[in-house]
Amino acid sequence: MKPFVVAANWKMHKSPVETVSYFEEFLPKIEGQADGREIIFFVPAVDILTAQERLRGTGIHCGSQNSHFEMKGAFTGETSPLVLKELGITYGLVGHSERRALFHETDWETGKKLRALQQVGISPVLCVGETLQERKAGQTAEVIVGQLQAGLKEADLADFDGHSGLKLCIAYEPVWAIGTGQVATPQQANEAHVVLRQALIDRGGPEFARRALILYGGSVKPENAREIAVQVEVDGFLVGGASLEPSSFLPLCLVEKH
Ligand code: PGA
Repeated sequence: MKPFVVAANWKMHKSPVETVSYFEEFLPKIEGQADGREIIFFVPAVDILTAQERLRGTGIHCGSQNSHFEMKGAFTGETSPLVLKELGITYGLVGHSERRALFHETDWETGKKLRALQQVGISPVLCVGETLQERKAGQTAEVIVGQLQAGLKEADLADFDGHSGLKLCIAYEPVWAIGTGQVATPQQANEAHVVLRQALIDRGGPEFARRALILYGGSVKPENAREIAVQVEVDGFLVGGASLEPSSFLPLCLVEKH
């Protein structure tokens, strides 16, 4: 059975000291309750060591928010996927809408970055999503399928065979729902996930598409989580704002899928 994924995206929030106090509160409360869940914390790069120390032996994963597509070299300010692997990172975000919009990350780069993560054995979480303007213009499917195809352009799909331990996650995050409090309706989320699942079938066949995990992200909160979680094509969440406090993230980790 596929796990239900609950992923926290801390973005540029929290210091190592704050990371320690977060896990001091969070870990005793989640202990023994995370069966059938894959919980991931995408923490700022500067908090990875601290987070890893706290998460060791808990079954909870630490992920990276961004990484370069080269393994090393003259890339000031960038983070190597190889080093992330050495630090024990198991999941890596690729192409978050803030990377695309604020740091001008292109589809070409997402394809390279996804491939590089895969090469070092880190499971990629490829983020896709349309802007409000694109949704209003009826371009949602075209935009998200285009981003998906570009992100997987260089990927070796055979690696996501269910045996390598490598998982492919896609996070559908409508840009208009990120950090705005305006969540997609459960139907809108499911519709987009159906489109993405079909694009995955077209790219790699039904088995490959079935194994892939499609997460919803964009203003997920304890109040709206359950109705989204029960949608057939929703395999988990990527959560920004509500992941910053254990009191709002815990209920999301425990939400019922069925
Ligand atoms: P949000 O962010 O939950 O604050 O909308 C989601 C994300 O950007 O991953």
